[in-house]
Amino acid sequence: MSAEREPIGVIGTGYVGLVTAAGFAELGSDVVCVDIDAEKIARLERGEIPIYEPGLKELVEKNRSRLTFTTDISVALERARLLFVAVGTPPTYSGDADLSAVHAVVGAMPASDSHALIMKSTVPVGTGKVIKRVFEEQGKGGFRYVSCPEFLKEGTAVADFLRPDRVVVGDDGDWAGDAVVDLYRPLLNSEHGGQGPAAPLGALVRTDIASAEMVKLASNAFLATKISFINEIANVCEETGADVLEVAKGMGLDERIGPKFLKAGIGFGGSCFPKDVTALKQLAGNTGYHFQLLNAVVEVNELQKRRVIGKLEKHLGTLVGKRIALLGLAFKPNTDDMREASSLVLAARLQAAGATVVAHDPISADVARPMLRGVDFADDPISAVRGADAVVLVTEWQEFRDLDLVQVREAMAGDVLVDGRNALDGEAAVAAGLRYEGMGRPAPQPAPAKSHA
Ligand code: UDX
Repeated sequence: MSAEREPIGVIGTGYVGLVTAAGFAELGSDVVCVDIDAEKIARLERGEIPIYEPGLKELVEKNRSRLTFTTDISVALERARLLFVAVGTPPTYSGDADLSAVHAVVGAMPASDSHALIMKSTVPVGTGKVIKRVFEEQGKGGFRYVSCPEFLKEGTAVADFLRPDRVVVGDDGDWAGDAVVDLYRPLLNSEHGGQGPAAPLGALVRTDIASAEMVKLASNAFLATKISFINEIANVCEETGADVLEVAKGMGLDERIGPKFLKAGIGFGGSCFPKDVTALKQLAGNTGYHFQLLNAVVEVNELQKRRVIGKLEKHLGTLVGKRIALLGLAFKPNTDDMREASSLVLAARLQAAGATVVAHDPISADVARPMLRGVDFADDPISAVRGADAVVLVTEWQEFRDLDLVQVREAMAGDVLVDGRNALDGEAAVAAGLRYEGMGRPAPQPAPAKSHA
């Protein structure tokens, strides 16, 4: 056991739990990772990482001696007083978050004056209050509660853990909140009582529980709004001849706006944005408040996924019998996560329109296959585009950015390329003989012939 660092328990070994566990182990804590899935725990014990997250396998291996994997929650309770909760909170059919896994953890806690639950899972505002009441009713009033939302991005989660923008700790001002702040101190800048320099390490926001819960939901809802906003601007750009890349560049230089999250495309997906936007909308609705803006954010995102169909029909006419290749399936690059991926809607719409769909994704194929019935899977991008009437770039993996577009054109039967992420060089595509369609961009003109006059 580390001499100075506090041992912790982490309940739930998904993306958030595993990255949090490995991250705190890297900072020197002994970490007991608990999961009800015995198969997952057995795999982790064998050194297998059940998800694809760059750098995570290495971090787990490096800190293996500090990590214990078990299905037995009492091991965590014996060794640690801080128990981080990182179980799933998927949306229910009503759009509310399903808190059954969270409540199972709460119910499994014993009466104790020396333990605390630290909530990492994204939960509706007010969950902390409810859990504290449940603890009281179950005679476990001494159990402490802290909200410490995660802001990890899939694909860069390890780096995000080790270099957070901010750490939000919502608590009742007791020992548990202090202990969580102490755990994060190596990652906080000195202005916030941390051990690092003033910048660029994270800032600490120590607040009440409800505000911490709201920071998480509001941040994700704002980012999703930014994406739907730029997607609508892109759609208007298409009507007016403006180029959304130029527009976003010009907007982003205003430091009140900032350049990030202004990439137009075929909509956001993933485990967080769609779920959190809906959860916040629902949460507001449950209190009688109609969150109008978020309705539009969701609707724009749904329509955006379908815009590709219109672009294909513009060039191909009917899609019946056409072969369409999808490059990328995951909801974004560097992850195998297919949750709410735009590719799911797109493939289904294409099949419904009578097209044959073939796809390639460098990492997510195994996860995607059972979700995409009737889609042919190719082992590499050129095999995917071979014989295709049109190609759609769905996920901007680096290997697609690096594709030789002349080779793509030669392999295809047709010549339509829809760049759903504005990730490819439109002029190079046109030079290769492709009909290129970006998102919110005028069609690139062929490069003028060189004049020697
Ligand atoms: C997000 C939040 O960023 C993170 O803080 C939170 O903890 C979990 O949710 P993540 O879901 O991993 O993280 O993905 P992110 O990188 O934020 O991208 C989400 C989606 O938005 C992707 O589908 C991406 O393609 C899309 N996106 C992002 C755009 O369409 N345009 C952009 O400019 C940025």
